[in-house]
Amino acid sequence: MSENAIGIFDSGLGGLTAVKELVSLLPQENIIYFGDTARVPYGTRSRQTIIKYARQDAYFLLSRGVKMIIAACGTVSSVAVGLKDELPVPFTGVVVPTAAAAVQATRTGRIGVIGTSATVNSGSYKNEILSRNKDITVIQQDCPLFVSLVENSFISPDDDIVRLVVERYLQRLKNEGIDTLILGCTHFPIIAPAIQQYLGDAVTLIDSGRETALYAANLLREKHLLNTAVQPGTCRYYVSDTVEDFRRVAEIFLNRTVGNEVSHINLEHAHI
Ligand code: DGL
Repeated sequence: MSENAIGIFDSGLGGLTAVKELVSLLPQENIIYFGDTARVPYGTRSRQTIIKYARQDAYFLLSRGVKMIIAACGTVSSVAVGLKDELPVPFTGVVVPTAAAAVQATRTGRIGVIGTSATVNSGSYKNEILSRNKDITVIQQDCPLFVSLVENSFISPDDDIVRLVVERYLQRLKNEGIDTLILGCTHFPIIAPAIQQYLGDAVTLIDSGRETALYAANLLREKHLLNTAVQPGTCRYYVSDTVEDFRRVAEIFLNRTVGNEVSHINLEHAHI
């Protein structure tokens, strides 16, 4: 069982921020990634649709024999909360690990949360933070355009469009004097340099991909599911839209080229 892969999914490419961290934390692990690139974004869809897509994604990974599933998507983690209880393998989303890290990091008790509209409307991060410390002030802001910027490679802090959108969305959080900001969507770490530049170095950014990878590594250790092989593991990627587009954008997320490890799969008619 411990040699089976870790399954990770996202609505698109954002979850690759968790893959990158997991590969550097646990290089011997095999990873199977599913990016639902034909149906991204999830963050503007209804609750029922997000739950249906999330279940199709998770059951696809289960059909590949994974030993654990990570929903590396803020939207799925916030909305499809019942998934954890129906899966036969250990599961984590991004909300619990990321909120826990933010509570640890804040000094002033003023935490900002940014995510998709579905994530922010669910109040998932806010509730998780308040369940850990009810005296913390949480200020939320949805930033749906960040997903499109990242998927279209608009990521440089020197790009006028990026600067403008960052300022438009984050001005209120800056004025509110937050000292910690949760990047509650796994796409957002890619524009972290632009966000940090705008908010200044005094604000700590909490990367949901990174925190979730750390949490998943601990969970595997606790369950005695770590792969003890000595050779490096493999990564396989599945996407529901074109393989070429995935290769192009995946390079930005992973900092390396992706070749034949990526295949196309259609889950549209999966009966789950
Ligand atoms: N990575 C997803 C999330 O964390 C992307 C957003 C979307 O599909 O709208 O929410």
